Amino acid sequence: MSDFVPRPEDRFSFGIWTVGWQGVDVFGPATRPPMPAERAVRKLAEIGAYGVNYHDDDVFAFGATAAERDERVGAFRKALDETGLAVTTATTNLFSHPVFKDGAFTANDRDVRRFALRKVMDNIDLAASLGAETYVCWGGREGAESGAAKDVRTALDRYKEAFDVLGAYVAEQGYALRFAIEPKPNEPRGDILLPTVGHALAFIQELERPAQVGVNPEVGHEEMAGLNYAHGLAQALWHGKLFHLDLNGQHGPRYDQDLRFGAGNARGAFWIADLIERSDYAGPVHFDFKPPRTEDDDGVWESARACMRNWLILCAKARAFRADPEVAEALRAARVDELAEPTLAAGEDWRAVRDFTPDVQGLAERGAAFERLDQLALEHLYGVR
Ligand code: GCO
Ligand code: MN
Ligand code: MN
Repeated sequence: MSDFVPRPEDRFSFGIWTVGWQGVDVFGPATRPPMPAERAVRKLAEIGAYGVNYHDDDVFAFGATAAERDERVGAFRKALDETGLAVTTATTNLFSHPVFKDGAFTANDRDVRRFALRKVMDNIDLAASLGAETYVCWGGREGAESGAAKDVRTALDRYKEAFDVLGAYVAEQGYALRFAIEPKPNEPRGDILLPTVGHALAFIQELERPAQVGVNPEVGHEEMAGLNYAHGLAQALWHGKLFHLDLNGQHGPRYDQDLRFGAGNARGAFWIADLIERSDYAGPVHFDFKPPRTEDDDGVWESARACMRNWLILCAKARAFRADPEVAEALRAARVDELAEPTLAAGEDWRAVRDFTPDVQGLAERGAAFERLDQLALEHLYGVR
């Protein structure tokens, strides 16, 4: 779309906690008033979003009475019904309350672990009744600051146990929910368990119901670890495990910036759009960002709009890049298509290459022609093509 206006078919979604973030950080208190979930829903619908993700605590306060909870959930539901916004995804806050200061599923204290499972099951019931299809699990407090405090192998036993218990719960209730693990290397813990997409993918294979669990990679989290987010997404897609994604912006390895999508590493963002556009990912295009605490209410919606606009702009640029005849030629010159050809031909086995002797000198001397290809991509991104 040349006007870059978001439409429901773009499937944009936001966490209630993103636009609702009050700007509390480690050095200062809130700079914005609280935003009830129903206001976030109405405003997001107004600016063209399709759906939302929520934590239980975004809708009703931790420790709310049944009556308070019903009132808050009622207002949330009413806003969803009136705007037609979908609840694509839900998640549990297992990190804010001091009870979770040493984690939830992997807290050393067994009662904390049992309570965490109960809190998740409570919210899974609500999530299912709201039609959510994905249940995100971000283990922000699952980790440690010091070596002896956490026996990591035992903690992974407990982490697996939690997913096995919750998997059984979802299966036995007949819910159509799938879990998506969200990796993060650190913050708020010094070191968080399942720190990257790769760690999470390996962990999932050890679960009782691996088919029920995938990943929810976040741009900033992979980039905090110095990793290439698009590569992480590509590997998750390759495993059939990209159940959800958290889009935002980050400037390299430092604290979790949660900038609006497209701010931060713009070149990385271009390759994210290019990959997702050409993949079979069918989930929501989800934003998990924090409008900086410098912004007032207008600034909040400005930054939320900009996430969607930047996605549409970068998708258009990625499409133009792929449609450019010079790019097609540069891709051929770089032999990108040749990688799709299996190394052994049909019917061949190791014998075919056991004594393979190519022109090693000639191959070594031949340039890969990647620079021209990458420059064409940058020129599309910079807006000169
Ligand atoms: C972060 C995380 C969170 C999670 C959210 C969903 O703050 O670093 O990205 O925003 O995505 O809690 O579980
Ligand atoms: Mn984050
Ligand atoms: Mn996130």
